[in-house]
Amino acid sequence: MSQASNNKSFEGFDAYMKEALTQAQGEGNLRSLIYDNLDSPTEFDIDLSHNDYLNLRSFQPLKDAVFKELQDLHLPFGSGGSRLLGGDQKILRQLEQEFVKWLGCYEDALYFPSGYAANEAIGQAIFTNDTEVFSDQLNHASIIDGLRLSHWTRDQKKIFRHNDLNQLSELLAASEATIKCIITESIFSMDGDSPRLPELLELCQIHNAMLILDEAHAIGVYGKNGSGLASELTNIENAPIIGIYPCGKALATQGAFVAGTITLRKYLINRARSFIYTTAPSPWMALALKNVIKLMPDLEERRVHLSKITNFMRSEFKRLGVACLDGDSHIVPVIVGDQTKGEQIVEKAREKGIACRLIRPPTVAPDSCRIRISLHAELNFESCHRIIEVFKP
Ligand SMILES: Cc1ncc(COP(=O)(O)O)c(C=O)c1O
Repeated sequence: MSQASNNKSFEGFDAYMKEALTQAQGEGNLRSLIYDNLDSPTEFDIDLSHNDYLNLRSFQPLKDAVFKELQDLHLPFGSGGSRLLGGDQKILRQLEQEFVKWLGCYEDALYFPSGYAANEAIGQAIFTNDTEVFSDQLNHASIIDGLRLSHWTRDQKKIFRHNDLNQLSELLAASEATIKCIITESIFSMDGDSPRLPELLELCQIHNAMLILDEAHAIGVYGKNGSGLASELTNIENAPIIGIYPCGKALATQGAFVAGTITLRKYLINRARSFIYTTAPSPWMALALKNVIKLMPDLEERRVHLSKITNFMRSEFKRLGVACLDGDSHIVPVIVGDQTKGEQIVEKAREKGIACRLIRPPTVAPDSCRIRISLHAELNFESCHRIIEVFKP
């Protein structure tokens, strides 16, 4: 007998779930996890599906350093509570300070358990009755959910076409709000492109707007010592920027920093529900992240190599007529159209020992299913040729 099969409410909900799953399957949009089947093949010599852009997750010298410190410091693995209750470990504050020192362009930062939680907090925190927010159409789901969660009315939320600074400028010019707030990503997660940041900052200055920039896919990879794209802007010291820095990509760990002023940090501690009502991140994770940050200045060779293979892959794809989206970054999305075609390419890659995954609706628009090729520093030119063989028309 299956679970609670004689309960009418449960039976009704169970039938609803099965129907929804059957429908998703019929549309080719059913999602599943690799290890739903524990016997799934795991041995791929090339993996294009993760965001560990600098291949630090399993970098042995880093792991050794973390293990050693763990033993020396006797850190607990769990924080034991939310940071406002018993969970505020010294290492979490040290980590925030190290992060701010590394970036060099913010007064302070607050460490959240995930990028999702950080963006949720931001959507909630920037709300006032007299605010309008200008959000890129392709912003990450966590940014959208943050804006949905707060008390924003439809009129206060302006969605501009992806990276269209002309439209953004028109919307800003027409706005009479006291607080204008642009929110976008420095490298878009599913499109791999980037807004023109100096121009964006200029728009902020012309229209007295502030900028919230999600650097999830730039931190670690771009900027001096990997400090991201915002820190590259020449006039950043006077720029009205709040930075969101998720750590699960090139920083190979977990959590996210919201960086800005000292006041912003204090305000978030008092108002951000996704910070207040959740258990503080694990001190072990904080220690690992602290070591990753310490290592960042030494990883220039990896960053330069990643940039070389990115340029190579993108120019080869262009030459061969592979339908990849324009951009300069290490996220190279190949548009495959429908799910069936996409699955065929994923299978062809799998047969050649290459792992990649199909990104489907609703993550991306219908008809723009794509294989998101996520390049990383461990790939060499021979691997690039193998990847090209899979994707060339
Ligand atoms: C642009 C962007 N922001 C935020 C997030 C969420 O970060 P996290 O995975 O730490 O919740 C992601 C990815 O997952 C992302 O791509």
